[in-house]
Amino acid sequence: MESQLGIIEQSFNVRYSGWVREALDELTDSFTITDPSISGHPIVYASNGFSKMFGYDKDEVVGRNGRTFQGPKTNRRSVMEIREAIRQERPLQISLLNYRKDGTPFWMLFHMCPVFSKEDGRVIHFVGVQVPISRRRRWSSSGVSRNGINLCEDGGEITNEAIFRCCRREVCSDSAIQLGRSVALDSALGSDNRELDVDEACEASELEKRKSAAAINNVLSVLTHYSELTGRLVCGKRCCLPEKSLINAALNISLGRIKQSFVLSNPFLPDFPIVYASDAFLKLTGYGRHEVLGRNCRFLSGLDTDPATSFQITECINFEQACTVRILNYRKDRTSFWNFLHISPVRNATGKVAYFVEVHVIDICTNWEKQGLSPEMRQLSVVAAVKVAVRSSSMCSTS
Ligand SMILES: Cc1cc2nc3c(=O)[nH]c(=O)nc-3n(C[C@H](O)[C@H](O)[C@H](O)COP(=O)(O)O)c2cc1C
Repeated sequence: MESQLGIIEQSFNVRYSGWVREALDELTDSFTITDPSISGHPIVYASNGFSKMFGYDKDEVVGRNGRTFQGPKTNRRSVMEIREAIRQERPLQISLLNYRKDGTPFWMLFHMCPVFSKEDGRVIHFVGVQVPISRRRRWSSSGVSRNGINLCEDGGEITNEAIFRCCRREVCSDSAIQLGRSVALDSALGSDNRELDVDEACEASELEKRKSAAAINNVLSVLTHYSELTGRLVCGKRCCLPEKSLINAALNISLGRIKQSFVLSNPFLPDFPIVYASDAFLKLTGYGRHEVLGRNCRFLSGLDTDPATSFQITECINFEQACTVRILNYRKDRTSFWNFLHISPVRNATGKVAYFVEVHVIDICTNWEKQGLSPEMRQLSVVAAVKVAVRSSSMCSTS
């Protein structure tokens, strides 16, 4: 059996040409690259900047999951947000408390983005950048009221805000005078003052956000360049499915006549991507067509979506059965809505499952009697219309 390290090596070597590691080693930022297709979603590359920031040797890090650097005071909600972003294959910028090898905690801006294969639009790696946060930007209510002493200077003026928005003591200690004041602050607040830095939410500055975005771009350009040399191209933006993977023009026209919110997914393509999305679906969710074609429907779920419902859907699909669930979904602007979702297999003229149709009805509690059809009836009428369209299109293409 191939060793885990061998698999990790492969993850890189298959996609990028030789010298990619050397090129990445030249970048000074702290970043890691992970492979979501390997069990445990391990780090496959760690930069020199990362080793320096966290105090680990590179070979202590490769093969481990990024959660290694979390600890008792890392915010669980933030961790869940990262998990969600990975599941939905989207970028994320978030403040996170991490721990160095020696156990000291520090706030950082964690910026993560997926790396896509240009061939088939699949996510092959993630890049994660870690930028240390040097100043607290957001007040927490406990911070404001703890002390009235002005001890840290900001542009010549001493302000309360400057004291409490410092995430780390050394930020306030640029000069000996400030250091002295900082010591005074420690005694004024008591010995648990250091805890304040770790316990209170810390938001990155615009500069830090720009820094992380620039670091991500640098890593992506190295990866893109070295993938060009192998011909197995990667890119930082989701690439649409190749034309041949989408549906044919005749079927497109027939489906266009159905005015409800629905999508069609192809179970024979990797990760079960959407190959058709109706206009009503785009209006309901706020996404553009190019943003949904080629993606798995899971991007509609989010932090508070019940995993049991998602599991129920997967089971029905695996058994090629229809199912109806009520699931919490999210629009592009991250507002949520209750989706009364019906999923059904759609067979072609030879009786084989060709697609799955997912019909969305929002807010079933409204007075649907006035609209004529019940939500169930509306869903079934869409499914019937889609089935007719698929069957006749497959008959045309085989005749
Ligand atoms: C490329 C990449 C780099 C990551 N780097 C870190 C990191 O430096 N620190 C950290 O706390 N989490 C990091 N994570 C997040 C964790 O690996 C993990 O995804 C997160 O804890 C949520 O998943 P879990 O709930 O399974 O732990 C990284 C994730 C990715 C994809």
